[in-house]
Amino acid sequence: MDKDYTQKLYVAMVGLPGRGKSTMAKRIRNGLSAEGISAKIFNNGEMRRRLMGPDSTEAEFFDPANSFGREARELICRQNLEAAQKWLRSGGEVAILDATNVSHSRREMIEKSLTDHPVLSIECVNEDPLLLHACIRRKTELPEYAGYSRDEAEASFMKRCEHYEAQYDPVGSEKYWMIVDATANRVLDERPCEISPYYAAIREIVTSMWVNDLYLARHGQTEFNVQGRIGGDPPLTAKGRAQAQLLAQHMKTVPIDWVFTSTRMRSHETAAPVLETHPNAHTVALREFDEIWAGDCENMLYSEIREKMPEVTAGRNANKYSYMYPNGESYAILQERVRRGLRRALFMAGESPLLIVGHQAINRVLISLFLRQRTEDVPYIHIPQSQYFHIQLSPTRKLFERVPYEAGPSQDTALKDPQIYS
Ligand code: F6P
Repeated sequence: MDKDYTQKLYVAMVGLPGRGKSTMAKRIRNGLSAEGISAKIFNNGEMRRRLMGPDSTEAEFFDPANSFGREARELICRQNLEAAQKWLRSGGEVAILDATNVSHSRREMIEKSLTDHPVLSIECVNEDPLLLHACIRRKTELPEYAGYSRDEAEASFMKRCEHYEAQYDPVGSEKYWMIVDATANRVLDERPCEISPYYAAIREIVTSMWVNDLYLARHGQTEFNVQGRIGGDPPLTAKGRAQAQLLAQHMKTVPIDWVFTSTRMRSHETAAPVLETHPNAHTVALREFDEIWAGDCENMLYSEIREKMPEVTAGRNANKYSYMYPNGESYAILQERVRRGLRRALFMAGESPLLIVGHQAINRVLISLFLRQRTEDVPYIHIPQSQYFHIQLSPTRKLFERVPYEAGPSQDTALKDPQIYS
């Protein structure tokens, strides 16, 4: 063992396929690089595809009973271990081994082979069925599955997952480990590597919310908005449709790869022109982004509620955040599902720019998740229908910008003095 044992670190990613390991590995590398720490990824899958070609895509290749596949994967793993070790010796600081490393025996082999610096195993889990399916879907769109139909690719990938599940041991017996919910930026359990100067930096990276470019718009005007009526599923007015067109025109040159809406018509109608100018964007409607459910007060006018159900108005006035509509939701309850929706949207979009077309209460809660406002102020955040928010969170930049879009193309109208919180 050399004398600077603690000065460098191996990170062994762990997890079943489609659990977000590679995304997490890239986040760790980029986050460390932003801190001036040199980090590099050694990816077994890439080496397999390069060396073994399309035959190694077949599910049978991953069958533990297939000695050819097993030995080939073992060899690739050892080659990457050697490359990682060599790289650390030549000046690198954190070597990230991006592979499934699902079995205890594989991780034991890694720890026994790499004794010059500590090995931290980071297991990624993803228990959200919707996101798991989205990940699997994304995998099957990779060039590796080019010769397969979508169904064939999905069936083959699921079979591959089964082979890995048969060998899977969760981390826990290794010297240093961390289990991360890859969809929620949360450490679920850990045995910290206190001796490494990089542990805290890595922990902070995996628990931070990173957003490259998130645009948050509210739907355009509806008939209900004009009347002061709440909830329901009204369409846009002529003015609302014009606002949707202006939003699209404004965003024409802004890259957007994902558009998330609620399941409500007004949200879809607002997103539609943006989708026309961004025909390749993926679009996903999430129930999590449906407007606050007003229960017995759905479809009523504010004035009607005041007259017929004064206790509702009084309850909201006294504590709007916690007040729950009869048979409906409060902002406090809403917060749970909006948080889940945001987690899903950010995970699906990955590093790509995304637009969320939400509602008044939804956007208030979304904004509060970024700005950590006092709860009593959240239900009063101003959400105009003529502006969107542009949000960026990275290790080096925190941007929160309000952009009016009714006046023309984006470069002309961005607020001259954006609100930047860092
Ligand atoms: O008025 C439009 C609306 O989106 C309603 O559907 C919803 O109930 C309301 O805004 C939420 O805002 P507030 O909590 O201020 O009533």
